[in-house]
Amino acid sequence: MSGFDRTWLALREPVDARSRDKALLAGVTEAIGNASRRTVLDIGCGTGSTFRALSREVGKDVRWRLFDRDPHLLDEAARRHGHELELIQGDLNEIEALPLTDVGFVTASALFDLCSKEFVHRFVDRIAEAGIGLYAALSYDGQMRWSKPHPLDEVITAIFNAHQLSDKGFGVALGPAAWEFLADRLRENGYAVRIAGSPWIMTAAEADLQRLFLAGVMRAVFEYGELDEAEIGDWADFRHRMIDREGSLCHVGHQDVLALR
Ligand SMILES: C[S@@+](CC[C@H](N)C(=O)[O-])C[C@H]1O[C@@H](n2cnc3c(N)ncnc32)[C@H](O)[C@@H]1O
Repeated sequence: MSGFDRTWLALREPVDARSRDKALLAGVTEAIGNASRRTVLDIGCGTGSTFRALSREVGKDVRWRLFDRDPHLLDEAARRHGHELELIQGDLNEIEALPLTDVGFVTASALFDLCSKEFVHRFVDRIAEAGIGLYAALSYDGQMRWSKPHPLDEVITAIFNAHQLSDKGFGVALGPAAWEFLADRLRENGYAVRIAGSPWIMTAAEADLQRLFLAGVMRAVFEYGELDEAEIGDWADFRHRMIDREGSLCHVGHQDVLALR
């Protein structure tokens, strides 16, 4: 198990879909259309959210290869799209074993903020060597704010961002710095890089997602141990009241990166 459950991924998918930068999506579609190798590899695919975001736009002749280490998420991808996809279970850390045969383009969503500097170096070297483009969407960029402010919002955000640097299976994570670090490494390796914001704006209609997101923030802040339980509890009570009664909006910053050779 990866710790990313299907409910969380399913709740975030529609918000992810409307948040992805549209100009970059058009750029990816065009790049996949122009690639001579007709396989797209989606890494850290989960249940196939990126495939669903892109597959209707790209030609039917494109083959999709989805790669993840979590067999439960891959099972769900197989249940939903089995006949349309090649599914591979593996660990991205084994970079030399990345299945790049016939791959003209690599995609990823909500992945690179989990990764370490060392992984990004090795990964960019690998795709650069093979001359493959990359679309890396929805990396968390460290920004969180709410339409109904609370005095602890800033300190909670700072603690959450510090917690994002903990090891998520790749070594010390880049967290909010990932998108920029990735973009710089890609440029150094000769890529033309485009970046665009893809912020989540969670509305009252996404109350369930907001509650799950809050639970994740609280877990991280508890674990970090800098604020006492009563303070975290007060903040969380306030945030839940704002979701339930006031229809509070929550903004969570993300960045999309498109890198072409
Ligand atoms: C936040 S989820 C995003 C899933 C999907 N891309 C989406 O946007 O819904 C991160 C995904 O990366 C996968 N993952 C994390 N570490 C991995 C590793 N070392 N090798 C392969 N997959 C990994 C997880 O299993 C999970 O499916």
